[in-house]
Amino acid sequence: LKNKPIGIFDSGVGGLTVARQIMDALPQEHLIYFGDSLRAPYGDRAPEQLAQFSRQIIDFLMDKDIKALVVACGTISARIFGTVEQMTDIPVLGMVVPGVTAALAATKTGRIGVMATAGTVASGAHRTAILTQRPDAQVMSVACPLFVPLTEEGWSDNTVADMTAQIYLADMAANRIDTAILGCTHYPLLINSIKKALPSDVTIVDPAVVLAQDLKKTLGDAGLTRVDDTLPVHQFYISGNKEKFDKISALALKVSCDAQVVKLYGNK
Ligand code: DGL
Repeated sequence: LKNKPIGIFDSGVGGLTVARQIMDALPQEHLIYFGDSLRAPYGDRAPEQLAQFSRQIIDFLMDKDIKALVVACGTISARIFGTVEQMTDIPVLGMVVPGVTAALAATKTGRIGVMATAGTVASGAHRTAILTQRPDAQVMSVACPLFVPLTEEGWSDNTVADMTAQIYLADMAANRIDTAILGCTHYPLLINSIKKALPSDVTIVDPAVVLAQDLKKTLGDAGLTRVDDTLPVHQFYISGNKEKFDKISALALKVSCDAQVVKLYGNK
């Protein structure tokens, strides 16, 4: 059981930023990644459709005999986490709780910005979780729908990315937030543009850092930590666009991964 892999999934390349943090925190664990690049972005999809996609992906990962599941997609974590948790009996971790934990630990003034997909912002998941723990907090959420296609296109550090970030984040910058949550797993790839668009004293939190620590604890508590001296073997699967994925994966993972294209469903 301990030697089984950890399953991770996202709509595309974004979840690789989460895989990176997990590899750093748990370097002995095998990972199996699925990126639904053919159907990305997920940001505007209805909850029922997100549930249907999650079901297909989780069935695929469960067939690979995973011991824990990381929902490395902010949108699924924010909109339908309870539903996804019920799809399997292994431990499931999502992105909202770690992001909120990190932000509450970092903020002094309680003025917190959340940048995320339209679906995540509409869910209000971060706001609700923050206000439950700190009722006097001021939460400012901004949907940044162009960030995902920019990242998937590999345009993560150019003038277009800088200007897009400036426009989306202008209100947040003017509103004197002291902490900002990267509420979508693609956004760490745009960190340079995001930093330039916010005042330099704003703390930017990547939920994946806390998630990796939570995962370490979850595996430890459940007696599921892999104890083996041999190097782990990671597998990467996607639903389409291999060239693009492999190129961006080098940026997100800082190692290249030779993703395999799999057909989980028809063409849509
Ligand atoms: N990376 C995912 C997220 O965190 C999905 C973004 C998208 O596909 O719109 O929300």
